[in-house]
Amino acid sequence: MNDISRTADPSRMADDSHRVMVTAVTHWTPSLFSFEVERPQNFRFRSGEFAMLGLIQPDGRPLLRAYSMTSPSWDDKLAFYSIIIPDGPLTSQLQHIRIKDHLVLRPKTTGTLVLDTLSPAKRLFLLSTGTGFAPFAAIIRDPQTYDIFDQVIVTHTCRNRKDLGFSQHVIDSAINHPLIGAMIAPRLTFYPSLTREDFHHQGRITTILQTGKLFEDLNIAALDPDNDRVMVCGSLGLNQDLAAFLQDRGFVEGSHNRPASYVVERAFVG
Ligand code: A2P
Repeated sequence: MNDISRTADPSRMADDSHRVMVTAVTHWTPSLFSFEVERPQNFRFRSGEFAMLGLIQPDGRPLLRAYSMTSPSWDDKLAFYSIIIPDGPLTSQLQHIRIKDHLVLRPKTTGTLVLDTLSPAKRLFLLSTGTGFAPFAAIIRDPQTYDIFDQVIVTHTCRNRKDLGFSQHVIDSAINHPLIGAMIAPRLTFYPSLTREDFHHQGRITTILQTGKLFEDLNIAALDPDNDRVMVCGSLGLNQDLAAFLQDRGFVEGSHNRPASYVVERAFVG
């Protein structure tokens, strides 16, 4: 991966891009990995947002894709989670990054999965599939989330057990965190489910919600727009299905200008 370092010449980047060094890489499965980079001092964002991140190609042009920050906004580290698409222009290269390689990070951050797109309520449901868990990894580790909501329920549905490695690690690190773990642990509930392998929670989140299984399994009240807020992050199909489900039950889509009861963002792929 020295090629990446060699070609990441700051003088060839647009002048406001950051050139950031990779400080950690973890491969969770052959097609899922997470990584950390040095956080530039002036890089600010809200937990749940995404930025454009990528590599400088040999011809000097940047190849960037949207990546949600998985680290919360207070963290010194800047972390990301990625799928590997074998013929994907960026991830087929990014999968080879190693510590001390350099990446390019655009300074602008944005996204709808942030706390101020939702009006205050009692419970926050974070519904994700696949790499859609990424923005929620930041939100569940942000103390501001618990200033607003009494309870946070995060679901993560994947095909196979191995695909839950990253999310389970994030949950464990949140509830065991030396400073904020004691605040998070009693108020965060993780509900993983699998669709293509036997597991104690089985099935698509759409079905699990429709049948009421989620609420039965957790022994909690059913979704209700007066008390609950929902963020959704997954594939286009999942987002559409869950948006329809929520609208049928009286939930209203929120935005930065008009906070309401649910928000949706598509999980990014490389
Ligand atoms: P399934 O295995 O039944 O397709 P993917 O790996 O394709 O991104 O999917 C991640 C998870 O999201 C899988 O468990 C998949 O279930 C589920 N999923 C995909 N599309 C939908 C949808 N429209 N509604 C609910 N779950 C979905």
